[in-house]
Amino acid sequence: MANRQKTVYLCSECGCETPNWAGKCPSCGAWNTLAELRLGKDSAGRSSSSARGAKPKKLQELDTAEEVRFSTGISEFDRVLGGGAVLGSLILVGGAPGIGKSTLLLQMCAATAETRRILYVSGEESERQLKLRADRLGVTGGEIYVLAETDLDAILAAAESLRPEIVIIDSIQTVNQADVGSAPGSITQVRECTMRIMRLCKEKNLTVFVVGHINKEGSIAGPKVLEHMVDCVLYFEGERSTSFRILRAAKNRFGSTNEIGVFEMADRGLACVENPSEMLLSGRPENCPGTCVACVIEGTRPILAEVQALVTPSAYNAARRSNGVDYNRAAMLLAVLEKRGGLSVAGCDSYINVIGGLTLEEPAADLATSLAVASSYLDRPLGADLAAIGEVGLSGEIRSVSVLNQRLSEIYRLGFKRCVVPVHRSEEAASFSGLRLIPVRNISEAIAAVLARE
Ligand code: TYD
Ligand code: MG
Repeated sequence: MANRQKTVYLCSECGCETPNWAGKCPSCGAWNTLAELRLGKDSAGRSSSSARGAKPKKLQELDTAEEVRFSTGISEFDRVLGGGAVLGSLILVGGAPGIGKSTLLLQMCAATAETRRILYVSGEESERQLKLRADRLGVTGGEIYVLAETDLDAILAAAESLRPEIVIIDSIQTVNQADVGSAPGSITQVRECTMRIMRLCKEKNLTVFVVGHINKEGSIAGPKVLEHMVDCVLYFEGERSTSFRILRAAKNRFGSTNEIGVFEMADRGLACVENPSEMLLSGRPENCPGTCVACVIEGTRPILAEVQALVTPSAYNAARRSNGVDYNRAAMLLAVLEKRGGLSVAGCDSYINVIGGLTLEEPAADLATSLAVASSYLDRPLGADLAAIGEVGLSGEIRSVSVLNQRLSEIYRLGFKRCVVPVHRSEEAASFSGLRLIPVRNISEAIAAVLARE
């Protein structure tokens, strides 16, 4: 009786646990997401034994030593982690296959191996492949140990005997624990393995980086299942077709999740991009209709991005495509231009694209998007020296945005001469010599101010 395995069902969407299988998750209502999770007698035994040893301690008497951070040697990576990685933390690095997770971590090895011993466990690449990649990235010397292994017990044993300070597991979907009895990458395996890795991490005070591939729904083998266990969740984003990459923190127990890291994938690995705006604006077409520069805040940094639009008379049903701007938001902006801006865009094909594979989530980019569309529709260029900031409301009004001055200073730094801003609170805007502000009340004023025929 004591040996009976307990089975529960776990939802891959919300992480909810139920004793019985059902077609629909009782908690989040998603269909066909419950997967069987066998709690091995072993794992049950382990958790109860550790529970027996723990005693509550008084909060004031706890060790208050500051968390110890170390630099990953990559400035943008440190920035996202909140100023370096915390010793003894478990960090999940998620992203689509081929985005550059292994590259980033191998580059971190290169930068830290002089002072710390590292164990790089790869379940995806052979030792030879890893060596070839390391050579290409210029990773030489230092105490980097490589283990091509997928069996969790073997990995943990290697970590115990080698006593590294940093362990990299690439990737969690390839690791498997023999007695769990389900396939590697399944929710049961991923959960069990992460729990044991977590235990190793806390007992031995190791810093562990775990790579997680994102499945087609955009989650790491069921999002919540891993996210709540680890200390820090980072997502690596970007279009594979462009070289621009963004590292974002989705959770951080030791810092804010406000910061982003910007990288460029080059032929010798990832390079930090300290000036993302410059990179995003390079190669802008001059004096061409249908382009406008927006300023969004990513993390704590203002970033300038070019929004392009192409509006053409439609031969058939009007088509709409938007890349980098939410489709519904783009449809709303087109409707506002039609009704409040006096442009008949409804019968046209409209294509909107943000350069560099960036996604503009902030409404502050609305005005630039609308002006790019208007410029293409009217076939008049806005001029390369113009940027626009402002949220567009349903009545066509241009609403104020947060941290206007910070945005303006980035626009000024990049040499723009004119910027369209919301009239509301524009008197509080800082003045920069050589940057002329064009305050506007609504979308038709904006169009008249910058697109009127001379
Ligand atoms: P990789 O780190 O293997 O991705 P992941 O671990 O997230 O699956 O990166 C793979 C891509 O990066 C691959 O398509 C080639 C590209 N790449 C470069 O462009 N330059 C380089 O120096 C390296 C190492 C990779
Ligand atoms: Mg990889």
